[in-house]
Amino acid sequence: MTQPDKPPIEIPEDFEQVPPAGQEGRPPEHPHHHPQPYIAFEHVSKAFGSNKVLDDVSFYVMPGEVLCILGRSGVGKSVSLQHIVGFLKPDAGRIKVAGEDITDYTDKEMQLIRRKVTMVFQNGALFDSLTVRENVAFPLRERGELQEDQIQQIVTGLLEMVNVLEMAEDLPSELSTGMKRSVAIARALAAQPEAILYDEPTTMVDPLIGRLLGDLILKLKRQLRLTSIVVTHDMRFAQRLADRVLFLHQGKAHFFGTMEEMKRSNDEVLQQFLHLDELVLPGA
Ligand SMILES: Nc1ncnc2c1ncn2[C@@H]1O[C@H](COP(=O)(O)OP(=O)(O)OP(=O)(O)O)[C@@H](O)[C@H]1O
Ligand SMILES: [Mg+2]
Repeated sequence: MTQPDKPPIEIPEDFEQVPPAGQEGRPPEHPHHHPQPYIAFEHVSKAFGSNKVLDDVSFYVMPGEVLCILGRSGVGKSVSLQHIVGFLKPDAGRIKVAGEDITDYTDKEMQLIRRKVTMVFQNGALFDSLTVRENVAFPLRERGELQEDQIQQIVTGLLEMVNVLEMAEDLPSELSTGMKRSVAIARALAAQPEAILYDEPTTMVDPLIGRLLGDLILKLKRQLRLTSIVVTHDMRFAQRLADRVLFLHQGKAHFFGTMEEMKRSNDEVLQQFLHLDELVLPGA
């Protein structure tokens, strides 16, 4: 099916179910046991002064799925991620994460959500004065319930998984950008999250490292069934990874659907985006 204009957003049944009056505090009832989205935006709008960034944006991510957010620079991809972890609040609309409506959560309430949903920042945001090993051990120590030998065992396993075990005793300043990002992913995993948000994991690294990071994210999806959102400019990467794609354009969720649907779409803006990418990255 082609979607010449604005494709409709497919919302699972009872996604927008409003609780009957007087029952707001109760969890929604699911008589047919439909799986619920793990993360959802419902008609979210956000402006900074006169700069209207998100305008009535809706999308969702099902548990264990990978959503890729695509779109040109400045379209609100990073802003969207920041709403999910509560660094930003919407002007209108609702945001649901891990089965909870977090829209009006305080920073304290968000701390519990941020344990379930962690963000991997572009620069890695590692602690400069701690070794790679200590960076990854940090979330494990914070939990305060593990013995030292257990911590070391888990850290070694995680560093092995992301291919940076040889750098365990190095400081972040001694690592390349790609390695820093791998360590940041290992540290995020140490917190045992249910979901990971990646902001441009493959940009600013050489294509080979980009490929390795892509393999790693794919491996995490398959082995751990982690729910993920990946912001990326890289169409090839998105094609390998995405169960669904959100294409932001001029403040709107211009497209939300599968990669196949996106490629089949006759929509001019989408086709231009796909075509531009081919020009930038010839071959394959
Ligand atoms: N904290 C903020 N205060 C004011 N304006 C902001 C803030 N954060 C983002 N913006 C603005 O919101 C818009 C969207 O920014 P965002 O960082 O989400 O873009 P992006 O899609 O991630 O772009 P890129 O691909 O370049 O990373 C931009 O115009 C940006 O200047
Ligand atoms: Mg960004």
